[in-house]
Amino acid sequence: MKAIIFYRSSYRGNTLKIAQSMAEALSAELVSIDNTPSTDLSEYDLIGFGSAINFAAHDIRLQRFVAEQDLEGKNVFIFSTRCRPLLGAYHKPLRNIIESKGGIVTGEFSCRGYDRTGLWVLIDGYNKSRPNEMDIFKAKLFAEKIKWKLHPLATIYKVPVNAHFSGTAIRKKDAEIIAGNKVVFLNTSTCVSCGKCIEVCSMHIFALKGKVLPINEDNCIQCRLCADKCPTSSIFIKESFLNGLRIAFRESFSDKLQKSYNSDDKGR
Ligand SMILES: Cc1cc2nc3c(=O)[nH]c(=O)nc-3n(C[C@H](O)[C@H](O)[C@H](O)COP(=O)(O)O)c2cc1C
Repeated sequence: MKAIIFYRSSYRGNTLKIAQSMAEALSAELVSIDNTPSTDLSEYDLIGFGSAINFAAHDIRLQRFVAEQDLEGKNVFIFSTRCRPLLGAYHKPLRNIIESKGGIVTGEFSCRGYDRTGLWVLIDGYNKSRPNEMDIFKAKLFAEKIKWKLHPLATIYKVPVNAHFSGTAIRKKDAEIIAGNKVVFLNTSTCVSCGKCIEVCSMHIFALKGKVLPINEDNCIQCRLCADKCPTSSIFIKESFLNGLRIAFRESFSDKLQKSYNSDDKGR
């Protein structure tokens, strides 16, 4: 997925800290709108826009910048830093602009930022040390969530199964062949058989059967290391509460997970 983030952070660099964390999580280009960027957005799958909240809305320059973009059918997310404890309707003006340009708002994030204006000078500023480490971490989690929500295999579980191979369900998505039953899905058409998933999976879910396949997905503990390390983004883990529950039961009332973990020293 190709992502780009546009930001303005003119007061204290508060929003820039958040933008950097998101850009890292998405491997996105990070662009300040102050540098009057050239903006052909056609090649991007995901676009982020963020700034401070200045006078109850996003920075006016960011709003004007967004109003000039063609966002038809584009997935867009919004973020901000602000002084007040509650976000309220601060994002509404920017959200309205994005939607009027045909963009699809897939997520919104906001956190507090240090402010030493107005009355706050009396106490040497409000929200001291914000955004802090936790804010920056939450921004990263937010970005990762969007990344997985938009993954090409995110809805593959809804596609009917065509066949089985080595006990693994096989589905077709356009011309691509996807292996996986309910939890671990692998696009065998884009997989380059590098073996990274086999190496990092401590539960031994993957095996080389001519091609790499998720042969043992009942033991997946949803750590997502395989998907994070896959160089071609060919793996999708369908996380769910039910699967979490299943893992907890397996761990508590049987030794299947422990056995799978202990079955081989490879990759540890
Ligand atoms: C001119 C100005 C206006 C502001 N207006 C608001 C506001 O209406 N509501 C709010 O919660 N914070 C407001 N703030 C606080 C900023 O949103 C906050 O400090 C933000 O984290 C600054 O981000 P930046 O360093 O990325 O520019 C304002 C700050 C400035 C300088």
